[in-house]
Amino acid sequence: LAREAVDALESAADSESIEAIRIRFLGRKEGRISGVLRGLGGLDPADRPQVGAAANRVKGQLEARLDERLEALAGAADQESAPDLTLPGRGSWEGGRHPVTRVMDEIWDVFRAMGFSRARGPEAETEWYNFQALNTPLDHPAADEQDTLYLEDSVLLRSHTSPVQIRTLEQHEPPIRILAPGWVYRRDTYDATHTPAFLQVEGLVVDEGITFVDFKATLAEFARRMWGPGTRIRLRPSFFPFTEPSAEVDVKRVITRDDGSTHETDWIEIMGAGMVDPAVLDAAGVDSERYTGFAFGMGPGRIAMVKYGVDDLRTFFENDVRFLQQFVPGG
Ligand code: PHE
Repeated sequence: LAREAVDALESAADSESIEAIRIRFLGRKEGRISGVLRGLGGLDPADRPQVGAAANRVKGQLEARLDERLEALAGAADQESAPDLTLPGRGSWEGGRHPVTRVMDEIWDVFRAMGFSRARGPEAETEWYNFQALNTPLDHPAADEQDTLYLEDSVLLRSHTSPVQIRTLEQHEPPIRILAPGWVYRRDTYDATHTPAFLQVEGLVVDEGITFVDFKATLAEFARRMWGPGTRIRLRPSFFPFTEPSAEVDVKRVITRDDGSTHETDWIEIMGAGMVDPAVLDAAGVDSERYTGFAFGMGPGRIAMVKYGVDDLRTFFENDVRFLQQFVPGG
């Protein structure tokens, strides 16, 4: 019986057939060895100890062999899945900041150096902060459900970062010099030039005696620090309900070629801006007789498009590593 079990075990190739052998010989009900032990009662009492001892010895040996075989099999499987340490390495990946984050950081660095601090506001806003306090009546096209994503009655996803102007004016006494970056939302289709969510940076300066000269000089200095000393700005008349007068700000950059020669770019629109409308100061509880100011808002995504020659805004969102890799220095 012992020989039979050992032979069967020798030819068992996997853990399932080893388990089958365990059941065939040692199984409680049908097992052959268990059967011998159970049958001891029917033997001559004189033979019982000897036969019993032999059966138990075979049982012990067989159990040990079964475990040995199982362990050997497991070891072989481990070795098959062990890594091949002789394979060449895959090379490491270098991480990098997203191009839009990079532009946002550059804008922030320039204004921080000019004495601005950072402000924030919620992305879920009320109609009051997003529109009415900004001198924008609710029948203005921007407030229409066609353009703005409403969450529920009078609560919406902010369509610009300008509500941070109001929140800042409510909480801080002038002098105020803040930059407020953040996500804004509009009901736009997702295409090469529109995305329903995008980043904006708001700027606000309010103090006694702030004039149009401060406004223009600050933006001109920003443009020079951001794009080089030869950069010029141009203000085109525009309209925003919360600034008066209002302007679109364009920049013209001087590009130096490899051979040292230079050329100027076309005018590139970078922001909306203007002198803070006194009605905005009043709505925020700030004395509009005493204080004046200016504000501006820009989209770092649009600026990154121009800066890196990207012609489709969607590439900033799809996070294809082959696209992003191009902005890693040396990558
Ligand atoms: N909030 C305006 C926009 O989203 C930009 C802006 C900000 C204009 C501040 C003037 C002053 O288009």
